[in-house]
Amino acid sequence: MSDESTKDTKDTKDTKDIKDKKEPKKVIRSKKTIQQSLESSLLKQNGNEKDKDKDKNKEKEKKQNEGRVLALSLRPKSLEDLIGQNDICQTLKSQFESHRIPHFFILSGPVGCGKTTLARILSRKIHETYGIQDVSHYYKNIPIQKKVHYEIKEVNAANQTGIDDIRKLIEHMGFKPLPPSRVKVVILDEAHQLSVPAQNALITETEDVPEHVFYIFCTSAPQKIIPALQRRAFHICPKLLKDKDNIEEIVKRSAKYAEYNGDIDPFVEGIIHYEVFSPGLIIQAAEKYFSGLSVSDSLINGKNEMVGNIDMISVCRALVGGKWNVCAEILKDATRSDTYGIKASVLGYLKTVLLKSSGNKSINVAKAIRFITSAEFQDESIALPSLLSSLCLACAQMNS
Ligand SMILES: Nc1ncnc2c1ncn2[C@@H]1O[C@H](COP(=O)(O)OP(=O)(O)OP(=O)(O)O)[C@@H](O)[C@H]1O
Ligand SMILES: [Mg+2]
Repeated sequence: MSDESTKDTKDTKDTKDIKDKKEPKKVIRSKKTIQQSLESSLLKQNGNEKDKDKDKNKEKEKKQNEGRVLALSLRPKSLEDLIGQNDICQTLKSQFESHRIPHFFILSGPVGCGKTTLARILSRKIHETYGIQDVSHYYKNIPIQKKVHYEIKEVNAANQTGIDDIRKLIEHMGFKPLPPSRVKVVILDEAHQLSVPAQNALITETEDVPEHVFYIFCTSAPQKIIPALQRRAFHICPKLLKDKDNIEEIVKRSAKYAEYNGDIDPFVEGIIHYEVFSPGLIIQAAEKYFSGLSVSDSLINGKNEMVGNIDMISVCRALVGGKWNVCAEILKDATRSDTYGIKASVLGYLKTVLLKSSGNKSINVAKAIRFITSAEFQDESIALPSLLSSLCLACAQMNS
């Protein structure tokens, strides 16, 4: 019995021991589980906070965009956001990845094709690629992100056309960037408006660009940039959106942002019919269409390009109708800097008319195109009179 009892006691002891031995394991496991669940709940919390931050940013962005035109609210902020520019994006991405970034870009193309948009994306990407300097010793106790201010200067070359403006700019660019920036980027919008001496002053600067300096020219008339500068630049022409998928994508994006739920198909067909292929003009027209205008009204106005103060659609209509007196009345306000815009606009219009006409009319339109393309543009001082005389001859051709 005593043996039994000893065995029993032993058994009980063993069982207790085993229990005792198992217990702590259980405790450890449960500690782990608590830790894991704490971590996962923290992660979830962080995730939720990030989501909340994202939502807050979106709301903030929407508030900032209230009252702004759709085109500005929808301005893409990264290469990935751009529609229909795959080849350009691919080239740029590989330049950035390999740190072989040109120091001088020329972005050219018609109104609204995305020059300014791409220039801003590029300038940010250049800064991000070169990184920021450690400025913690300047800004103790302040989160560095709050102090990041990239050195990006936007200059409207239409207002600052002279050599003195450019000399000042070159001098400013020569100074090292302010921390935390490591580089300086200048965007020169309407760069074709720079005077020839001002452009000449930039030749040496762009040939031997300081390591920290990047120039981005935006222009709708690249032929007015002197050849010496053109040769030094990496030239990009953002593409017009001629592909139906791209047109649909930009219209859908606009409709989503404007919370428009109607049928967009007739509008997409209209874009193709009226050949409004510039993303900026498509978004402008979409805004009108969403607010109730008919397809043709929103798109014809979208094509109604103003060159300076000149209503080009009226000029083109009068020209095709052979009414030189009407053309002359509108064109009397044209200035030398409007010459290229007028020529491009009239030729674009005539091209559409030519493709849609037949018989005698098509021959007259073809001859009118010949007259206009042969206008003399080599010498700046005679470019405008030369264009006007060819427009007059084109007009007369329409009446023959
Ligand atoms: N590739 C693109 N994808 C999506 N949207 C675009 C694209 N390019 C331009 N946009 C839209 O078109 C608008 C006009 O573009 P942007 O101002 O860059 O044109 P631009 O060529 O500088 O015009 P301008 O000749 O009038 O200066 C932008 O605000 C943006 O909303
Ligand atoms: Mg622009």
